[in-house]
Amino acid sequence: MRAALVGGYAGTWIDGRLLDGVALSDEHPPPYGGAGRPEAAPGPRTLADGSPRFGARARMCAMTDYGQPLREQDAKGNPFGQFAVWFADAQTAGERMPEAVALATASPDAVPSVRMVLVKSFDENGFVFFSNHDSQKARELAANPRAALVFHWDALGRQVRVSGPVEPATAAETRDYVRSRPRASQLSALASPQSRVIDSRKALEQLVAELRQRYGDGELPVPSNWGGYRLAAQTFEFWQQRHDRLHDRLSYRRVEPCGWAIERLAP
Ligand SMILES: Cc1cc2nc3c(=O)[nH]c(=O)nc-3n(C[C@H](O)[C@H](O)[C@H](O)COP(=O)(O)O)c2cc1C
Repeated sequence: MRAALVGGYAGTWIDGRLLDGVALSDEHPPPYGGAGRPEAAPGPRTLADGSPRFGARARMCAMTDYGQPLREQDAKGNPFGQFAVWFADAQTAGERMPEAVALATASPDAVPSVRMVLVKSFDENGFVFFSNHDSQKARELAANPRAALVFHWDALGRQVRVSGPVEPATAAETRDYVRSRPRASQLSALASPQSRVIDSRKALEQLVAELRQRYGDGELPVPSNWGGYRLAAQTFEFWQQRHDRLHDRLSYRRVEPCGWAIERLAP
């Protein structure tokens, strides 16, 4: 079972048979054997200006058909436990960076922004990531300390959404993390005024070279403007891709004093 976007051809295959693909050009025959060429979408595939018709564009979106159910009776009562199971599955499935996550923040006047970060640890206290305290995300979190995360594990057809308040991680966590990083990464973090406009890449590289010279082989300082953040999860949603786009979604929300309510959402 696999999905692919290969040489101008997007589609879904199960056991070598194409289910819902569409050829994007005639030069690229479908890369599968035996099942015959799929029928072309009725009518022209492009608009007068050459852009894809909406229907054709939709079919270009390759989605793998996994069909793994996410059932209430199988889900853990605690979403951190459920997350741990799915995270381990993502590692086993060979996701290159299962800890990569989109982090959404918002400015005080509710303008959203989103970017990728790496979650370095998670437990019942929350999800920890590290960043520069002068960055856009940090400025937004200082003014509006709430955020949302979304993990996407393509190999499993799964998505997990998490949201909640964000607080600084401890200085010890930051120090331990910084010390665990390769020396070159530590130098880059020391040199980079993240999210600020800079004159040139050359100027940044010059700064790194100066730091390298100044510290030699000695221990590098922990950057004073670097640190961890902990998102204390209050809501989770686990999304499992299913056949025919009738996906499973289970949401967890905190119920005081210390429980979780699980609800099924329509896909
Ligand atoms: C896969 C991936 C992982 C990243 N991990 C981090 C991270 O852990 N911390 C970080 O500050 N930036 C990370 N970045 C860079 C951010 O996406 C972003 O460019 C940077 O933090 C500045 O964002 P901001 O201007 O919105 O604050 C990562 C980027 C990618 C593509």
